[in-house]
Amino acid sequence: MTTTAAAVPGLAGQVLAEYGDRVSLHDLYDEEGAPVYHDLAAGDTSEIRELLRVVRAFRGPVLELASGSGRLTLPLLALGREVTALELKESMLDLLRARLAAAPAGAGRRCVPVLGDMSAFSLGRTFAVVVLGTTSVSLLDEAGRAGLYAAVRSHLAPGGRFVLSTVDVTPVTAVMASGDSTDEADLDFEAAGASGRRYRMIEHWPAGDPVRRVTILPPAPEAATAERIDVLTTSIRVLPADALTRELADAGLRVVARHQLPHGGPRHTDVLLEVEAV
Ligand SMILES: C[S@@+](CC[C@H](N)C(=O)[O-])C[C@H]1O[C@@H](n2cnc3c(N)ncnc32)[C@H](O)[C@@H]1O
Repeated sequence: MTTTAAAVPGLAGQVLAEYGDRVSLHDLYDEEGAPVYHDLAAGDTSEIRELLRVVRAFRGPVLELASGSGRLTLPLLALGREVTALELKESMLDLLRARLAAAPAGAGRRCVPVLGDMSAFSLGRTFAVVVLGTTSVSLLDEAGRAGLYAAVRSHLAPGGRFVLSTVDVTPVTAVMASGDSTDEADLDFEAAGASGRRYRMIEHWPAGDPVRRVTILPPAPEAATAERIDVLTTSIRVLPADALTRELADAGLRVVARHQLPHGGPRHTDVLLEVEAV
């Protein structure tokens, strides 16, 4: 999906307006964005240890939803499990396939990458564990989440677990805890990818806003001289754990354990929820 720079709110929108028609804007998970996501995700170990600890307790095959380029898939395979990795974007699946080809043969052969939508899928089998990491449940709207819950229920083996992560704070608390005022809705920082390349990241999250908007662009000195400036953007709903727990219960899914995660974003923390079908 390609959106227009004028639709980007806050500081990122102002910066893009200054860069004018040199800007080429893309969704973070599309063809242009996927390698950047992959570069940034490659060094990100958040939630892996906690996720593996939970999965280890349930023997059998694993279904990973929104697998992306495999940040969590490879560690899940390292447990010796069969992993079905479902992902919406072919560009991300291509990166996963490349990683599987480079993985030890035993691990690569135990993974089945599937192009699919986590809000509506039917794989014709069940799994001991269904995983949805990296707070990716927040990429779905309410109707999408209803579809997700129904699909997860029909793919969980008896006694199986749905393990998903989400944010653990309300947006208002998060912004106030960061010391920002409501006028300072933008967080502007730099991050390095595994390749060593640096990225400017602007997170737009006004207090109380149910959506975080993340925009990724080259650092200002690099952008100053570039003929074309590739900019990536994604919107992430803020689904606090308590609200998500209630929503899951309404869909016949009960949270049986909560595991606090040590990392989150610059203005929030995350939690891993262990869920069973009732
Ligand atoms: C935040 S990334 C997480 C990827 C991976 N789990 C990780 O930890 O790096 C979210 C992923 O969800 C995928 N995605 C978005 N909507 C989806 C949907 N409806 N069904 C399946 N995957 C989806 C995106 O393409 C992207 O690869």
